[in-house]
Amino acid sequence: MKPRALTPSVLAVGAVDWDNRLFDSLIPLPDGTSYNSYLVRGSEATVLVDAVEPGMKDVLLGKLAEVPRLDHVVSLHAEQDHSGSLPDVLARYPGADLLCSVKAKDMLVDLLRISPERIRTVGDGEELSLGDRTMRFVATPWAHWPETMSAFLVEEGVLFSCDLFGSHLATGSLFAEEAEGVREAAKRYYAEIMMPFAKPLRRSLAKVRDLAPRIIAPSHGPVFGDPEWILSAYEDWISSPPRNRAVVAYVSMHGSTRLLVDRLVDGLAARGVGVHRFDLTATDLGKLAMALVDAGTLVFGTPTVLGGPHPHAMQAAYLANLLKPKAEHLAVVGSYGWKGRAAEKIGEALGGLHLTVLDPVLCRGLPAEEDLAAVDRLAARIDALHREKGFG
Ligand SMILES: Cc1cc2nc3c(=O)[nH]c(=O)nc-3n(C[C@H](O)[C@H](O)[C@H](O)COP(=O)(O)O)c2cc1C
Ligand SMILES: [Fe+2]
Ligand SMILES: [Fe+2]
Repeated sequence: MKPRALTPSVLAVGAVDWDNRLFDSLIPLPDGTSYNSYLVRGSEATVLVDAVEPGMKDVLLGKLAEVPRLDHVVSLHAEQDHSGSLPDVLARYPGADLLCSVKAKDMLVDLLRISPERIRTVGDGEELSLGDRTMRFVATPWAHWPETMSAFLVEEGVLFSCDLFGSHLATGSLFAEEAEGVREAAKRYYAEIMMPFAKPLRRSLAKVRDLAPRIIAPSHGPVFGDPEWILSAYEDWISSPPRNRAVVAYVSMHGSTRLLVDRLVDGLAARGVGVHRFDLTATDLGKLAMALVDAGTLVFGTPTVLGGPHPHAMQAAYLANLLKPKAEHLAVVGSYGWKGRAAEKIGEALGGLHLTVLDPVLCRGLPAEEDLAAVDRLAARIDALHREKGFG
């Protein structure tokens, strides 16, 4: 794909990664991703905003083939998917300095062994004149590392937001408005990457609102030519109360826990509670993360294995604890053969969320009628709590 113009002074020069299916050796990429990089040309100076994943550096350097001079390279985030090819860019353009936040400087030196002499740090609100264009740096920390910042091209109202507002989506469309599946990809990205930092993000979001950008150009996925929907989606994900939804994540070796889960899902659905049900042997953890964004209650279904939860359930609980969703209640259902501490251990794994823990439903082997009746009571309790708290 050739460089494409975003505005009169901004060219998209990044790389689309159609084939990658796993990011950070952790995050499923059902639709690939992109590493966006932007060339900004003012009357006096030319700037490159972010680089690309090192494996795709030839794509970036190829798109810069006709660019004889760069005055500055801006690194908004030290993570390697945007910084990894900076050493090659800096080698190609020995006259360019590297601009980054104060916190990013040491990180770029340590992560990539970039020479500190090439680096100039910029502060929140600092401006860089490109002649007829001005680039203003905006501190947006914890989106999603401590050093992250954004850059605002004042005259054209373009916000370069790096990972913030990004989506893992490989598409031939430059703008989100023309691309398929952006809303889901953006929510998935928020859930996996940004949700743990919802609190610091509130401040950044307010700052972005004040800037009133006309275009938001993130470093993954398409560009927002009409930023309103992504801004209001972020405000909703970050600040709205939980919804009347439960995440039911389970694993079952011999089918007993699954019977409890079936009954619970039926009971919740009959009462109008939205259910996201996940078989943890098969689910894409990104889908689970997405469901966590809005859920009011988390339910884990697990058999007892060697005294504790099944490892798949423990992994999901560990992940949910890290992602810091806004759910308020936890319940565990499960089957055991003799004894164990599966429910307690799930509760411990989710300790960081300070959830109200509902009575677990644990049965020996196949659930008996009284166990299913206990599941019905659990469904009623979840429904009642959601109503009491006004989860819509
Ligand atoms: C590898 C393995 C380890 C187990 N360890 C325990 C245990 O430590 N304590 C216990 O009470 N049951 C243990 N069980 C028994 C299961 O918890 C029991 O069979 C349960 O009913 C399975 O539920 P499921 O049908 O949902 O898989 C173990 C079963 C397996 C296969
Ligand atoms: Fe990142
Ligand atoms: Fe990234």
